[in-house]
Amino acid sequence: MLLEAKDIWKCYDAPKGKLEVLRGLDFSFERGKIIFVLGRSGAGKSTLLHILGSLDKPSRGTITVDGVDVSRLGERELAYFRNRKIGFLFQFYHLLPEFTLFENVFMPAMMAGRIEQRARAHFLLKVMGLEKRAGHYPSELSGGEQQRSALARALVNEPEIVFCDEPTGNLDEETADDVFKLILDLNKKTGQTFCIVTHEESLVEGRDEVYVLHEGKLRRRK
Ligand SMILES: Nc1ncnc2c1ncn2[C@@H]1O[C@H](COP(=O)(O)OP(=O)(O)OP(=O)(O)O)[C@@H](O)[C@H]1O
Ligand SMILES: [Mg+2]
Repeated sequence: MLLEAKDIWKCYDAPKGKLEVLRGLDFSFERGKIIFVLGRSGAGKSTLLHILGSLDKPSRGTITVDGVDVSRLGERELAYFRNRKIGFLFQFYHLLPEFTLFENVFMPAMMAGRIEQRARAHFLLKVMGLEKRAGHYPSELSGGEQQRSALARALVNEPEIVFCDEPTGNLDEETADDVFKLILDLNKKTGQTFCIVTHEESLVEGRDEVYVLHEGKLRRRK
């Protein structure tokens, strides 16, 4: 397995007691798959994705990526590991406002010392239809443009696993189709693994790795 999550709990303290968002969730996937996660708003999909992508820690349980128990990594080791292995498209993009689009997209590569990825950053912006926007700042872009930039940033280091939190949530049908085609294409050509949260039935139609997050657990959809 490329990723294995065992007995994952995530609890928050709430005024009326404890809020248990994830409740002993088990999940694993193999390399090269495209996994979809569905679930109602508030079900804990983003929470789960952040934990699987080792951006957040579970209250209990273990995440193993490529045989490495991520809870055993120190802060610097974890940052290095994540930067190399994992790409993340946030639901609310989190582009850095003081940097241009190109700088945002190129940033993970620069942090990894991979300046040769400059060309890839340009290529991804082009694929996203944003090459003319490279010098613009995030605040000058539409929601959908920011979303595509954030996806380009998630892909720039060619990570083994790409987590996408509603990658097409802000796009019209045609642009959403293009973005999804890119994901399928990358998966096919490079074997990159994708774990995608979505609300869109049209994306998951006919796919076999579809899971639903409900009451803190993930179940495969029949
Ligand atoms: N830092 C936090 N402190 C307290 N509660 C939190 C925190 N983060 C998330 N929650 C709660 O956990 C639950 C799950 O949130 P999450 O964002 O994971 O849902 P989601 O399934 O991604 O929803 P959506 O489809 O609307 O994006 C929600 O009830 C939310 O209020
Ligand atoms: Mg969410």
